[in-house]
Amino acid sequence: MSSFREDLLRGQVALVTGGGSGIGAGIAAALAGHGARVAICGRTQAKLDAVAEGIVAAGGECLALAADVRRPEALAAVTAAIEARWGQLDVLVNGAAGNFLAPAAALSANGFGTVVDIDLKGTFNACKAALPLLERRGGVVINISATLHYAGTPLQAHAASAKAGIDALTRTLAVEWGPLQIRVNAIAPGPIAGTEGMERLAPGAIRERMTAQIPLRRFGTIAEIAEAVLFMVSPASAYMTGAVVVVDGGQWLTGTNFVGLFG
Ligand code: COA
Repeated sequence: MSSFREDLLRGQVALVTGGGSGIGAGIAAALAGHGARVAICGRTQAKLDAVAEGIVAAGGECLALAADVRRPEALAAVTAAIEARWGQLDVLVNGAAGNFLAPAAALSANGFGTVVDIDLKGTFNACKAALPLLERRGGVVINISATLHYAGTPLQAHAASAKAGIDALTRTLAVEWGPLQIRVNAIAPGPIAGTEGMERLAPGAIRERMTAQIPLRRFGTIAEIAEAVLFMVSPASAYMTGAVVVVDGGQWLTGTNFVGLFG
Protein backbone atom coordinates (compact mmCIF):
# COMPACT_ATOMS: atom_id res chain seq x y z
CA MET A 1 0.00 0.00 0.00
CA SER A 2 1.40 3.36 -1.04
CA SER A 3 0.99 6.57 0.94
CA PHE A 4 0.65 8.54 -2.29
CA ARG A 5 -2.21 9.18 -4.69
CA GLU A 6 -2.35 6.83 -7.66
CA ASP A 7 -2.24 9.72 -10.13
CA LEU A 8 0.71 11.48 -8.47
CA LEU A 9 2.84 11.19 -11.62
CA ARG A 10 0.20 11.26 -14.33
CA GLY A 11 1.61 12.83 -17.51
CA GLN A 12 5.21 12.24 -16.46
CA VAL A 13 7.92 10.02 -17.94
CA ALA A 14 10.65 8.36 -15.88
CA LEU A 15 13.83 6.43 -16.59
CA VAL A 16 15.21 4.00 -14.01
CA THR A 17 18.70 2.59 -14.57
CA GLY A 18 19.22 -0.78 -12.94
CA GLY A 19 15.47 -1.27 -13.33
CA GLY A 20 15.77 -4.98 -14.11
CA SER A 21 16.00 -6.15 -10.51
CA GLY A 22 15.98 -5.28 -6.84
CA ILE A 23 15.50 -1.72 -5.69
CA GLY A 24 15.50 -0.36 -9.25
CA ALA A 25 12.70 -2.72 -10.32
CA GLY A 26 10.68 -1.79 -7.23
CA ILE A 27 11.12 1.90 -7.93
CA ALA A 28 10.09 1.45 -11.58
CA ALA A 29 6.93 -0.40 -10.55
CA ALA A 30 6.08 2.25 -7.97
CA LEU A 31 6.55 5.10 -10.44
CA ALA A 32 4.36 3.28 -12.99
CA GLY A 33 1.82 2.50 -10.29
CA HIS A 34 1.49 6.23 -9.69
CA GLY A 35 0.82 7.13 -13.31
CA ALA A 36 4.29 7.63 -14.83
CA ARG A 37 5.28 6.04 -18.11
CA VAL A 38 8.51 4.27 -17.27
CA ALA A 39 11.61 3.24 -19.17
CA ILE A 40 14.00 0.81 -17.51
CA CYS A 41 17.52 -0.06 -18.53
CA GLY A 42 20.06 -2.62 -17.40
CA ARG A 43 22.42 -5.12 -18.89
CA THR A 44 20.10 -8.12 -19.24
CA GLN A 45 17.14 -7.83 -21.60
CA ALA A 46 15.36 -10.88 -20.14
CA LYS A 47 15.35 -9.37 -16.63
CA LEU A 48 14.10 -6.05 -17.98
CA ASP A 49 11.36 -7.78 -19.98
CA ALA A 50 10.13 -9.59 -16.86
CA VAL A 51 9.86 -6.32 -14.94
CA ALA A 52 8.17 -4.60 -17.88
CA GLU A 53 5.64 -7.43 -18.17
CA GLY A 54 4.69 -6.97 -14.54
CA ILE A 55 4.26 -3.22 -15.00
CA VAL A 56 2.13 -3.67 -18.12
CA ALA A 57 0.06 -6.39 -16.43
CA ALA A 58 -0.68 -3.89 -13.66
CA GLY A 59 -1.94 -1.40 -16.25
CA GLY A 60 1.21 0.66 -16.73
CA GLU A 61 3.40 1.55 -19.68
CA CYS A 62 7.02 0.39 -19.76
CA LEU A 63 9.87 0.46 -22.22
CA ALA A 64 12.59 -2.12 -21.48
CA LEU A 65 15.91 -1.14 -23.04
CA ALA A 66 19.12 -3.09 -22.59
CA ALA A 67 21.99 -0.69 -21.90
CA ASP A 68 25.11 -0.78 -19.75
CA VAL A 69 25.50 2.53 -17.89
CA ARG A 70 29.26 2.28 -18.48
CA ARG A 71 28.59 3.05 -22.16
CA PRO A 72 27.49 6.65 -22.80
CA GLU A 73 26.43 5.78 -26.36
CA ALA A 74 24.09 3.07 -25.03
CA LEU A 75 22.46 5.63 -22.72
CA ALA A 76 22.13 8.08 -25.63
CA ALA A 77 20.19 5.36 -27.47
CA VAL A 78 17.96 4.93 -24.41
CA THR A 79 17.08 8.61 -24.18
CA ALA A 80 16.54 8.71 -27.97
CA ALA A 81 14.07 5.81 -27.65
CA ILE A 82 12.28 7.60 -24.80
CA GLU A 83 12.01 10.77 -26.85
CA ALA A 84 10.71 8.82 -29.86
CA ARG A 85 8.10 7.02 -27.76
CA TRP A 86 6.94 9.73 -25.35
CA GLY A 87 8.63 12.97 -26.39
CA GLN A 88 9.68 13.93 -22.88
CA LEU A 89 11.54 12.88 -19.73
CA ASP A 90 10.77 14.21 -16.25
CA VAL A 91 12.41 11.82 -13.80
CA LEU A 92 15.74 9.98 -13.81
CA VAL A 93 16.49 7.43 -11.08
CA ASN A 94 20.08 6.18 -11.07
CA GLY A 95 19.75 2.74 -9.56
CA ALA A 96 22.37 0.78 -11.48
CA ALA A 97 25.11 -0.51 -9.19
CA GLY A 98 27.61 -3.31 -8.86
CA ASN A 99 29.29 -4.58 -5.73
CA PHE A 100 31.03 -7.46 -3.99
CA LEU A 101 32.92 -7.96 -0.77
CA ALA A 102 36.68 -7.73 -1.08
CA PRO A 103 39.49 -6.45 1.13
CA ALA A 104 41.34 -3.57 -0.52
CA ALA A 105 44.56 -5.58 -0.37
CA ALA A 106 43.00 -8.23 -2.61
CA LEU A 107 41.25 -5.82 -4.95
CA SER A 108 42.75 -5.33 -8.40
CA ALA A 109 42.80 -1.94 -10.09
CA ASN A 110 40.19 -3.28 -12.48
CA GLY A 111 38.01 -4.55 -9.62
CA PHE A 112 38.06 -1.13 -7.94
CA GLY A 113 37.58 0.62 -11.26
CA THR A 114 34.71 -1.59 -12.37
CA VAL A 115 32.55 -0.59 -9.42
CA VAL A 116 33.48 3.08 -9.82
CA ASP A 117 32.65 2.77 -13.52
CA ILE A 118 29.20 1.32 -12.87
CA ASP A 119 28.13 3.29 -9.79
CA LEU A 120 29.77 6.70 -10.10
CA LYS A 121 30.60 7.11 -13.76
CA GLY A 122 27.38 5.30 -14.71
CA THR A 123 25.41 7.84 -12.69
CA PHE A 124 27.25 10.69 -14.38
CA ASN A 125 26.72 9.12 -17.81
CA ALA A 126 22.98 8.75 -17.28
CA CYS A 127 22.65 12.31 -15.94
CA LYS A 128 24.46 13.63 -19.00
CA ALA A 129 22.33 11.55 -21.38
CA ALA A 130 19.10 12.69 -19.70
CA LEU A 131 19.98 16.38 -19.45
CA PRO A 132 18.80 17.48 -22.93
CA LEU A 133 15.34 16.07 -22.22
CA LEU A 134 15.15 17.06 -18.54
CA GLU A 135 16.08 20.67 -19.20
CA ARG A 136 13.15 21.17 -21.57
CA ARG A 137 10.53 21.01 -18.81
CA GLY A 138 12.55 20.81 -15.63
CA GLY A 139 12.66 17.54 -13.75
CA VAL A 140 14.05 15.42 -10.97
CA VAL A 141 17.14 13.23 -10.67
CA ILE A 142 17.41 10.75 -7.81
CA ASN A 143 20.71 8.96 -7.28
CA ILE A 144 20.80 5.79 -5.24
CA SER A 145 23.72 6.18 -2.87
CA ALA A 146 24.63 4.32 0.34
CA THR A 147 25.91 4.96 3.87
CA LEU A 148 29.10 2.92 3.42
CA HIS A 149 31.35 5.96 3.34
CA TYR A 150 30.04 7.72 6.46
CA ALA A 151 32.48 5.65 8.47
CA GLY A 152 35.03 3.06 7.40
CA THR A 153 33.24 0.00 6.04
CA PRO A 154 35.59 -2.96 5.66
CA LEU A 155 35.64 -4.85 2.35
CA GLN A 156 33.93 -1.94 0.61
CA ALA A 157 36.76 0.41 -0.44
CA HIS A 158 35.52 0.33 -4.03
CA ALA A 159 31.80 0.79 -3.38
CA ALA A 160 32.26 3.32 -0.55
CA SER A 161 34.51 5.42 -2.78
CA ALA A 162 32.00 5.27 -5.62
CA LYS A 163 29.06 6.19 -3.40
CA ALA A 164 30.99 9.08 -1.82
CA GLY A 165 31.50 10.33 -5.36
CA ILE A 166 27.80 10.00 -6.06
CA ASP A 167 27.00 12.22 -3.07
CA ALA A 168 29.49 14.82 -4.32
CA LEU A 169 28.04 14.62 -7.82
CA THR A 170 24.52 15.01 -6.41
CA ARG A 171 25.45 18.26 -4.66
CA THR A 172 27.35 19.69 -7.61
CA LEU A 173 24.62 18.90 -10.12
CA ALA A 174 22.02 20.34 -7.75
CA VAL A 175 23.90 23.63 -7.88
CA GLU A 176 24.62 23.58 -11.61
CA TRP A 177 21.19 22.37 -12.72
CA GLY A 178 19.01 24.15 -10.16
CA PRO A 179 18.57 27.15 -12.47
CA LEU A 180 17.28 24.72 -15.11
CA GLN A 181 14.61 23.64 -12.57
CA ILE A 182 16.16 20.21 -12.32
CA ARG A 183 16.27 19.00 -8.73
CA VAL A 184 19.03 16.50 -7.95
CA ASN A 185 18.81 14.45 -4.76
CA ALA A 186 20.02 11.12 -3.46
CA ILE A 187 18.68 8.34 -1.31
CA ALA A 188 21.04 6.30 0.84
CA PRO A 189 19.38 2.99 1.61
CA GLY A 190 20.56 0.86 4.51
CA PRO A 191 20.17 -2.92 4.54
CA ILE A 192 17.19 -3.72 2.32
CA ALA A 193 15.70 -7.20 2.21
CA GLY A 194 15.23 -9.09 -1.03
CA THR A 195 17.98 -7.38 -3.01
CA GLU A 196 20.97 -8.84 -4.82
CA GLY A 197 23.08 -6.42 -2.82
CA MET A 198 22.05 -8.00 0.46
CA GLU A 199 22.43 -11.52 -0.94
CA ARG A 200 25.99 -10.63 -1.88
CA LEU A 201 26.90 -8.50 1.11
CA ALA A 202 25.06 -10.21 3.93
CA PRO A 203 25.12 -13.95 3.55
CA GLY A 204 22.51 -15.79 5.67
CA ALA A 205 24.31 -16.35 8.96
CA ILE A 206 25.32 -12.71 9.32
CA ARG A 207 21.85 -11.34 8.80
CA GLU A 208 20.53 -11.97 12.31
CA ARG A 209 23.52 -10.23 13.86
CA MET A 210 23.10 -7.34 11.47
CA THR A 211 19.45 -6.98 12.44
CA ALA A 212 20.39 -6.69 16.10
CA GLN A 213 22.53 -3.66 15.21
CA ILE A 214 19.76 -1.78 13.41
CA PRO A 215 17.86 0.59 15.73
CA LEU A 216 14.53 -0.28 14.08
CA ARG A 217 15.49 -3.97 14.47
CA ARG A 218 14.68 -5.05 10.95
CA PHE A 219 15.86 -4.73 7.37
CA GLY A 220 14.07 -2.20 5.20
CA THR A 221 11.91 -3.14 2.24
CA ILE A 222 12.18 -2.24 -1.41
CA ALA A 223 8.71 -0.68 -1.07
CA GLU A 224 10.04 1.68 1.62
CA ILE A 225 12.78 2.92 -0.71
CA ALA A 226 10.19 3.35 -3.46
CA GLU A 227 8.04 5.43 -1.09
CA ALA A 228 11.01 7.70 -0.42
CA VAL A 229 11.47 8.08 -4.19
CA LEU A 230 7.80 9.00 -4.59
CA PHE A 231 8.19 11.70 -1.95
CA MET A 232 11.29 13.02 -3.68
CA VAL A 233 9.63 13.23 -7.10
CA SER A 234 6.42 14.70 -5.67
CA PRO A 235 5.59 18.38 -5.15
CA ALA A 236 5.99 17.70 -1.41
CA SER A 237 9.75 17.99 -1.98
CA ALA A 238 9.59 20.87 -4.48
CA TYR A 239 12.16 22.96 -2.57
CA MET A 240 14.51 20.08 -1.87
CA THR A 241 17.66 19.74 -3.95
CA GLY A 242 21.17 18.52 -3.22
CA ALA A 243 19.91 16.42 -0.32
CA VAL A 244 21.05 12.91 0.53
CA VAL A 245 18.19 11.26 2.38
CA VAL A 246 19.16 8.29 4.52
CA VAL A 247 16.59 5.47 4.68
CA ASP A 248 18.32 2.88 6.86
CA GLY A 249 16.37 2.29 10.06
CA GLY A 250 19.05 4.32 11.87
CA GLN A 251 21.73 1.76 11.08
CA TRP A 252 24.69 3.99 10.28
CA LEU A 253 24.15 6.10 13.41
CA THR A 254 25.16 3.17 15.59
CA GLY A 255 28.66 3.51 14.23
CA THR A 256 28.99 -0.25 13.89
CA ASN A 257 29.01 -0.46 10.09
CA PHE A 258 28.79 -4.17 10.78
CA VAL A 259 32.54 -4.20 11.45
CA GLY A 260 33.61 -7.59 12.67
CA LEU A 261 30.57 -9.42 11.39
CA PHE A 262 32.32 -10.51 8.25
CA GLY A 263 34.88 -12.52 10.21
N1 COA B 1 36.40 -9.96 -5.34
C1 COA B 1 37.45 -9.31 -5.89
N2 COA B 1 37.46 -8.86 -7.17
C2 COA B 1 36.35 -9.08 -7.90
C3 COA B 1 35.21 -9.75 -7.40
C4 COA B 1 35.27 -10.21 -6.04
N3 COA B 1 34.23 -10.85 -5.48
N4 COA B 1 34.26 -9.79 -8.38
C5 COA B 1 34.81 -9.19 -9.45
N5 COA B 1 36.05 -8.76 -9.18
C6 COA B 1 36.98 -8.09 -10.09
C7 COA B 1 37.36 -9.05 -11.19
O1 COA B 1 38.37 -9.93 -10.78
C8 COA B 1 37.82 -8.08 -12.28
O2 COA B 1 39.10 -7.61 -12.04
P1 COA B 1 40.40 -8.26 -12.81
O3 COA B 1 40.17 -8.04 -14.27
O4 COA B 1 41.57 -7.50 -12.26
O5 COA B 1 40.41 -9.71 -12.43
C9 COA B 1 36.89 -6.89 -12.09
O6 COA B 1 36.35 -7.00 -10.75
C10 COA B 1 35.75 -6.88 -13.06
O7 COA B 1 35.04 -8.09 -12.93
P2 COA B 1 34.07 -8.61 -14.09
O8 COA B 1 33.39 -9.84 -13.58
O9 COA B 1 34.81 -8.70 -15.38
O10 COA B 1 33.05 -7.38 -14.22
P3 COA B 1 31.60 -7.35 -14.76
O11 COA B 1 31.44 -6.06 -15.43
O12 COA B 1 31.23 -8.59 -15.48
O13 COA B 1 30.76 -7.40 -13.38
C11 COA B 1 30.62 -6.69 -11.10
C12 COA B 1 30.62 -6.29 -12.55
C13 COA B 1 32.02 -7.13 -10.74
C14 COA B 1 30.25 -5.50 -10.25
C15 COA B 1 29.66 -7.86 -10.80
O14 COA B 1 29.71 -8.14 -9.44
C16 COA B 1 28.25 -7.56 -11.23
O15 COA B 1 27.92 -7.70 -12.41
N6 COA B 1 27.38 -7.11 -10.35
C17 COA B 1 26.04 -6.65 -10.77
C18 COA B 1 25.04 -6.86 -9.75
C19 COA B 1 25.38 -6.34 -8.39
O16 COA B 1 26.52 -6.31 -7.99
N7 COA B 1 24.39 -5.98 -7.64
C20 COA B 1 24.57 -5.54 -6.30
C21 COA B 1 24.44 -4.07 -6.19
S1 COA B 1 24.75 -3.54 -4.53
